Amino acid sequence: MSILLKNVHLLESPENERTDVLIRDGKIAVIGKGAADSAKETAGCETTDCSGRTLMPGLINCHTHAYMSLMRNYADDVPFATWLFDRIAPVEDSLSNEDAYYGNLLSIMEMLRTGTTAFADMQMFPRMAVKACADSGMRALITRGLVGESRDDEGAKRRLQEAFDEMEYGKEIGAPCDFGLGPHAIYTCGKDLLRYVGELAAEKDLRVHIHLAETQYEFDTCMKEHGKTPVEYLDSLGLLDREILLAHCVYLTDGDYELLKRPNVHVVTNPASNAKLANGFAPVKRMLEEGIQVALGTDSAASNNSLNMFGEMRLLTMAQKGVSKDSLALTAPETLDIAVKNGAAAIGRCDLGAAEEGKTADLILIDENAPSLRPLYNRKASLVYSASGYEVTDVMIGGKFVFRTGEYLTIDAEKVLFETERIAARYR
Ligand code: NI
Repeated sequence: MSILLKNVHLLESPENERTDVLIRDGKIAVIGKGAADSAKETAGCETTDCSGRTLMPGLINCHTHAYMSLMRNYADDVPFATWLFDRIAPVEDSLSNEDAYYGNLLSIMEMLRTGTTAFADMQMFPRMAVKACADSGMRALITRGLVGESRDDEGAKRRLQEAFDEMEYGKEIGAPCDFGLGPHAIYTCGKDLLRYVGELAAEKDLRVHIHLAETQYEFDTCMKEHGKTPVEYLDSLGLLDREILLAHCVYLTDGDYELLKRPNVHVVTNPASNAKLANGFAPVKRMLEEGIQVALGTDSAASNNSLNMFGEMRLLTMAQKGVSKDSLALTAPETLDIAVKNGAAAIGRCDLGAAEEGKTADLILIDENAPSLRPLYNRKASLVYSASGYEVTDVMIGGKFVFRTGEYLTIDAEKVLFETERIAARYR
């Protein structure tokens, strides 16, 4: 299966330069003059005129909980502990697998619609996330959420078993998913369980995905109980030696920056969730200055309340500029790199995150005629500072269109909306 995209504007090209891109066998085969000739030699190649559209790699949402879109706008304007323990957790505990399947699909619909082509998920319903990805063609790093005191804890054992079962299931059904382990946080997982997760991750070459240093309360409690900052504590258990995604990292000390400066450590900042739950803003500007790798996530639609990475990019740069009183903090190109290239590195997929020959074709097309982007002086600035995300017209994952000229090709959108309303009716 080959697709020739004609007359596209590549994000990295000079403003007025148009080119052709040939996609073959899921990869970007040729960019530029040779693309049309190669297409002629490729049997059954489909050609699309992309005049008036920008082509860029898809955005990568590095921290979310996709099934939780069922709780979007369900618990707002309440304190963090009330939000999590009194409002969200009871609903979460009452969801069926089928509910979670539709919640996952609803999230995937929103992510595709706004140009996200892969996400890192901490899941309580991993099988349903894997199925939703397989059915829709969405790419993900699925990490099973884990809680419990120790490796002997019955609940933890069951969830770990599920994590490994879902990896097998994903392979069986050909889901475009990678897998990891998702210990929820240092306050919901005991020392022994965290240590064990690190051992398993090393043994089986899996990524770890955890919430860390999200709130002042978490920071203070960790200092009181362990005499260490959350970052120091996690390091003491060996987890910062693993390939790891650290969601949040809002509360850091000077010493923490040193510990986070490792090629296997990926901080995932979630500015909207942190702001909405009144946890502050992560010191992203300083992290970048210190050489720490930072990717971007939305967190769940229950705490954001959106999975739109364009909105997240805009808030990220605005917040960093506003808080640091430095208008050069996080420029538009730096912000895009965080949302794309750093995201690919965080989920361990260096074949993604760039529109270059040889890379996997996870690509999006953006309508340059959208009034929100005009006049087009500077494409990157327009995408970070002006775009809403709804300028995305087409989304391709692994060389296949999954969203095309505003239509979902792999999801029965009407059914998903119907089912999610039916589920929500139980909680009204
Ligand atoms: Ni989260």
